[in-house]
Amino acid sequence: MPLDTRKFRDVMGTFTTGVTIITTLENKMPHGITANSFTSVSLSPPLVMFCLGKSSTNFDAFMNADCFAVNILTAEQDKLSTHFATFEGDRFDGLNWITWETGAPILKNVISAIDCRLEATHDAGDHVIIVGLVVRAEVQNQSSPLLYFKGAYEKLAPSSGVLKD
Ligand SMILES: Cc1cc2nc3c(=O)[nH]c(=O)nc-3n(C[C@H](O)[C@H](O)[C@H](O)COP(=O)(O)O)c2cc1C
Repeated sequence: MPLDTRKFRDVMGTFTTGVTIITTLENKMPHGITANSFTSVSLSPPLVMFCLGKSSTNFDAFMNADCFAVNILTAEQDKLSTHFATFEGDRFDGLNWITWETGAPILKNVISAIDCRLEATHDAGDHVIIVGLVVRAEVQNQSSPLLYFKGAYEKLAPSSGVLKD
C-alpha cells in the first residue's frame, strides 16, 4: 500500500534536526534557502549534502552555480530561518555577509559555516541531492543551535551540568 504523504511527513517530523541556510552565488547574485536536510557524507574527502526541492524558485541558481555554503543557525535565528523559507524578494537585503573561498555567502553570527565546491548532483524524486566538497569550515561561536521537530522550532533544554561517565 502506498504510504500516505501526511503520515510520511508526520513520521519524518519526529526526527529532530538542526536548521541551516544554504546559499549560493549565481551570476554574482546571492541566493539562499532554509534547509534541514543537510548532513555530512564523507570524512576523506570531506563531503556534505543536502536535498533541494525541484519546485524551489532557487532551483536553477543552485544547479547553475559551482558552489554552495551551509550556515548553521543559532537558537536566536528562527526569524532568519522563516525569512529564507518564505520571503519572496531579495532575501539578502540588509543582511551582513562575506565570502570565503568559493564566493557563496557566509552569514554573520551563525554557529558554523561550511564553504563547498559542487561535487555531484543526484536525481531523487521531487528533490535533487546536492553533494559538496568542503573547502573551508569554521565554528564561529558557542551559541546553542536552532532545532526543528514536528514542524516547529525548538531549543535545547538547559543542561543539568552533570556529566555522566
Ligand atoms: C525548517 C525548514 C527546513 C527546510 N528544509 C528544506 C530542505 O532541506 N530542502 C528544500 O528544498 N527546502 C527546504 N525547506 C523549504 C525552503 O526553505 C523553501 O521554503 C522552499 O525552497 C521554497 O522557497 P523558494 O522557492 O524561495 O526556494 C525548508 C523549510 C524550513 C522552514
